[in-house]
Order: sequence, then structure tokens, then C-alpha cells
Amino acid sequence: MYNFEYQNPVKIIFGKGQIAKLAVEVPKESKILLTYGGGSIFKNGVYDQVKAALKGYEVLEFGGIEPNPLYETCMKAVELVKREKVDFLLAVGGGSVLDATKFISAAACYTQGDPWEFLVHRFEISITAAIPIGTVLTLPATGSEMNGTAVISRQSTQEKLAFASLLVMPKFSILDPECVFSLPDRQVANGIADAFVHVMEQYLTFPVNSPLQDRLAEGILLTLVEEGPKVLANRTDYDAAANFMWSATLALNGLIGMGVPQDWATHGIGHELTAYHGIDHARTLAVVLPGMMQIRRRQKEAKILQYGERIWGITSGSTDERIDRAIEKTVAFFESLEIPTRLVDYQVPAETIDRIVARFEQRGTRMGETREIDSAETRRILEDRL
Ligand code: NZQ
Ligand code: ZN
Repeated sequence: MYNFEYQNPVKIIFGKGQIAKLAVEVPKESKILLTYGGGSIFKNGVYDQVKAALKGYEVLEFGGIEPNPLYETCMKAVELVKREKVDFLLAVGGGSVLDATKFISAAACYTQGDPWEFLVHRFEISITAAIPIGTVLTLPATGSEMNGTAVISRQSTQEKLAFASLLVMPKFSILDPECVFSLPDRQVANGIADAFVHVMEQYLTFPVNSPLQDRLAEGILLTLVEEGPKVLANRTDYDAAANFMWSATLALNGLIGMGVPQDWATHGIGHELTAYHGIDHARTLAVVLPGMMQIRRRQKEAKILQYGERIWGITSGSTDERIDRAIEKTVAFFESLEIPTRLVDYQVPAETIDRIVARFEQRGTRMGETREIDSAETRRILEDRL
């Protein structure tokens, strides 16, 4: 196992009826900006619960944060935060609202220039100040509620980039599984697939003798495989919703990735598909991951065999047959969620591969657990998914 440092200061408040605890968590005298998306919180009663809990607080609102949140939208909120001297941000929504709020939090305190720079130069610029954030999560998927990462898109350049900082980790996140009840099938399926691939990015690499991390990862994968379909079949199955929600949080709160190699190339390539074609984040992952497993089958061999055996019960056949079956099972799982897994299913033309490859070439991108995935390897992976 590798050396590691782990710090996760996010307080999780989990369960039915817990939104009422907001007033305990948000400092008194705060001037709050409540951030939200396209309006689902008005339909499912979450907004009313938040407002009831925050009676007596000064609460401003900023809505209209889109899925795959835009820098251009976030900068409008940054203006508002500065003008109104907001000192607490409350994100109410899915990963997009949470990510946007993290960006707003850091951007409002950034004095060195255009905040887009801390996405472009994420490893050179470190964030030194941010407005405190609390969250009410309404969609289990990204893990944003318990991590310091945000992914922001820029319309003018068709880019989608991430940054991370301890300073934008929420002070608290409220996770009420009843929020799942109002999710459309598509968002439940996306959430299951996204959480599944988060685990795979931290698990499907190469062995470093870390059986506990492996078992934790496999526990989350198996729970998603077992509980996910229950949520799809019956949206008001509280226990299934709760298990799904907690699985998605644990998939990306940093814990399972400690002391082990991490990949993240499926995400890196997936973000480009969203940037160019607006495809839902999770769906891009379901397209790319099977190609990653196919093209990187030798480098990932030991872990693919372990995954096949422990998640899908594949114990016989030659090494290559077992790998083929593990890939088939993974594809079948995504398709059972009604998530198509080929580029053609999303009308992505072959020219998009050229654009992505050219961009990676120009950026000098190298991804994956051994940094071997360059533009040429990216081409092979995407051509496998045509
Ligand atoms: O905008 P509203 O009206 O709220 O509707 C949303 C949106 O249309 C809706 N929704 C959310 N909760 C709902 C609901 N509808 C009914 N009932 C509810 N309870 O769902 C739609 C999608 O929401 P969104 O927040 O975009 O989805 P998700 O949580 O999947 O977030 C995706 C974003 O997170 C980023 C992705 O790249 C993408 O931009 N990610 C963030 C990560 C992180 N911070 O660590 C890691 C991930 O890998 C990912 O990259
Ligand atoms: Zn993801």
C-alpha cells in the first residue's frame, strides 16, 4: 500500500426529515445565498423544507444552475455574492449545483485574475480562501457532497475542467434519501452508473496489496448492483434509496482511493464528450469504461480478473475469456439501466475523436494510473466504442 494523508472534514447528516436541522448547522447571523438548479426543488417540497428550517435567516437566492454547470452562470452568482457580501453558501440540488457552488465560493474570494484560471492551471494555482458552504443533496451520484472537487464547463470554449481544494469541501451535507423519490429514471440510472465508475477509477488499476481498499470498493460495487435496480423499480423504497445514496457518497469521498493507484482517464475522456456534445456525465462514462477495459486489458489484467470474479462470479475460462466476460457484464449492467454504451447511440461522429485527440495532444494530456494514456491511446479507446 502507498503512503497517504486523508482528511475529510465534511459533517454528514443522513436520513429522513434531517433538512430541518439546517438551522443548527448554519451559523446565526449568516447572510446566506441559496443556490439551486432548474426548479426541481420547488416541485418535490425540498425548497419548502429548507425555507422552513431557515426561518429568521437572511436568505438570498440564485437559481438556474444548469446540469454541467457553466462558468458563465457561476460568474453571475459571484457578482451577487460580492455585491451583497454573502458569507454562507447553501447549495440545494445535485452534483451540478454543488459543484457550481464550490466554484462560486472560491471565485468570489479570488483576487489574482479570472477564476477560470484555477481550472486551467489546477496544479499550479492553489485556492487560499473560500466562502463556507453547506449542502442539501437531492441526487446521489457524484460524491460532491463529501469531497473538494468541482467540475465546471465553459460555453465559449467548449471546455469542461475540474479543480479541487480542501477549502471548498462543505462544512456539512444533509442527505435525505426521500429526495430520491422525485428523481426521474434517467437521473437514478445516471447516479448508479456514475458512482459505479467512481469506484472503478480507484479500483480497476493494478494490485498494491491493499485488500481492505479492494473489499470496500467491491462492497460499494455490489451494493450498487443490488440496490440500484430496486430504486429504479420502486422509487419510494426508502431503504433502497438510503443504500444507494450512501453508496454514492462513499464512492467518492476519497476513502477507497487512499493508498492505492487511481486511474480517472475514463472521466477525463468522458468530460470531452460532454463538452462537445452535452451528453450526460454518467452516460459518457458508460461509453468510455468498456473501451478502457478493452484497450488496457493487459495493464489492468489482475484487477479485471478479480473484479470479474468478485462482482460477477466469473471463475472459469482462459484469462482473455474471463476479461471479455467481465467487459460484457459491465456493458450489460449499464444497458440494464437503459444507458446506451456506444458513441453511435449518442450520434457522436468519428470526427469528435479527432477533436479530442488534437486537444489532448495540444494540452500534453497524460492520464491513467501509470500516466500512459496519451492522445494516441485515447484514440484507440474511443475507436473501440464507435
Ligand atoms: O436542476 P434541477 O431542476 O434541480 O434538476 C436536476 C437536473 O435536471 C435533476 N434533479 C436533481 N435532484 C432532483 C432532480 N429532479 C427531481 N428530483 C430530485 N430530487 O436532475 C438533473 C441532473 O442534475 P445534476 O446535478 O446535473 O446531476 P448530477 O448529480 O449527476 O451531477 C452531474 C455533474 O457533476 C459532475 C459532472 O461532471 C456533472 O457536471 N461531477 C462532479 C464530481 C465531483 N464534484 O466530485 C465528480 C463526478 O465525476 C462528476 O464529474
Ligand atoms: Zn463521475
